[in-house]
Amino acid sequence: MTAASAAAPTAPTEPHVMATYGRLPLALSHGRGCTVWDTEGREYLDALAGIAVNTLGHAHPKLVPALQDQIGKLIHSSNYYHVPLQERLAAKLCELSGLTNVFFCSTGLEANEGALKIARKYGHDRKIDRPEIIVLENAFHGRSIATLSATGNPKVQAGFGPLVEGFVRVPMNDIAAIDAVAKTHPNIVAVFLEVIQGEGGIRPATIDYLQQVRRRCDANDWLLMLDEVQCGMGRTGKWFAHQWAGIRPDVMPMAKGLGSGVPVGAIVCGPKTAKVLGAGNHGTTFGGNPLAMRAGVETLRIMEEEGLLANAAKVGGELRLGLQQAFEGVAGVREIRGQGLMLGIELDRPCGVLLGRAADAGLLISVTADRVIRLLPALILSSAEARRIVEILVPLVKAFLAEPPPKAAS
Ligand SMILES: Cc1ncc(COP(=O)(O)O)c(C=O)c1O
Repeated sequence: MTAASAAAPTAPTEPHVMATYGRLPLALSHGRGCTVWDTEGREYLDALAGIAVNTLGHAHPKLVPALQDQIGKLIHSSNYYHVPLQERLAAKLCELSGLTNVFFCSTGLEANEGALKIARKYGHDRKIDRPEIIVLENAFHGRSIATLSATGNPKVQAGFGPLVEGFVRVPMNDIAAIDAVAKTHPNIVAVFLEVIQGEGGIRPATIDYLQQVRRRCDANDWLLMLDEVQCGMGRTGKWFAHQWAGIRPDVMPMAKGLGSGVPVGAIVCGPKTAKVLGAGNHGTTFGGNPLAMRAGVETLRIMEEEGLLANAAKVGGELRLGLQQAFEGVAGVREIRGQGLMLGIELDRPCGVLLGRAADAGLLISVTADRVIRLLPALILSSAEARRIVEILVPLVKAFLAEPPPKAAS
């Protein structure tokens, strides 16, 4: 049964779960590849992949037995002991990134929190007592107190002040703004940014900007810290989005797609930062546990075996072209942005309502920054599935744009 042919889903009741999310009235029960089914048997094409997490889609036939094997051996052991799989995954991440050392954690905010600690400690080691970090407007780095302070979205910060100090905010793709900060802020130690802003509305940093920021960091002895939590892990067609600019960061926090659904985060560091944190400076209970590490190792192995970077570039290009052709000349579609399988369609009005309408039509998507439809499917997406996304989404968006705008509240 497809969602389109079914009655509207009913919301499961959850009296004991904190109401921190505005959820759709459905619960997913299982999936295979890029298809998922809900508990009432409706089928959906998944163009969200758990928000850029399910790199290999659902129930991948090579990942499932590997994880079953690991669960049968050892799920968790603690960082009191060596975890040989940590070295395997760290070595692979260093090979792919050209960086040198990795700290493992479990989530994106945790990776970013660690990166912020590295930047501050790097400053203190240079006798800068009140280090400051340049961050961008519209950035999203997480929801801990420090990472929400780095985030450039007042909605995320509202109600949680006082914010953590030590951030200086500038607009994206504006190198003059960074130069101006350099002149007035002697305590800057790092620039911290997403190569493609995800939650901020799929806004890419330009290649020229990234290269210039790298140069400024070198010239000023600042760290370049690139948050690849959402745009990394092959999604753009290279292992990491910054590789399109031919640059290397000093610190690269990552998470989301690394474990293909098993929580894995990592702070990948280069020679300048690999030794900033020493014994006792940082730690976590779950980070780097054998199950998480096995998920990371197998995810990267399967991505290589199945050529998923090339697939993300090819099918992402087809999806983008399909959307561009279908939306050509449609008033209300402002821009289609992104790279590979990280795409955003910006409309001229808030469009959160499309989330539910797409699900009713059998398609899982996201809407971010109020008016940007966001597509983040698994990297195994086929050309036929990309065409299907266009077939389902385009009529919904056109119908939505043809509706009279909602009356403003008086
Ligand atoms: C770029 C970026 N950084 C950090 C985070 C936070 O990651 P997590 O939700 O795993 O804490 C996100 C989550 O959406 C993200 O997109």
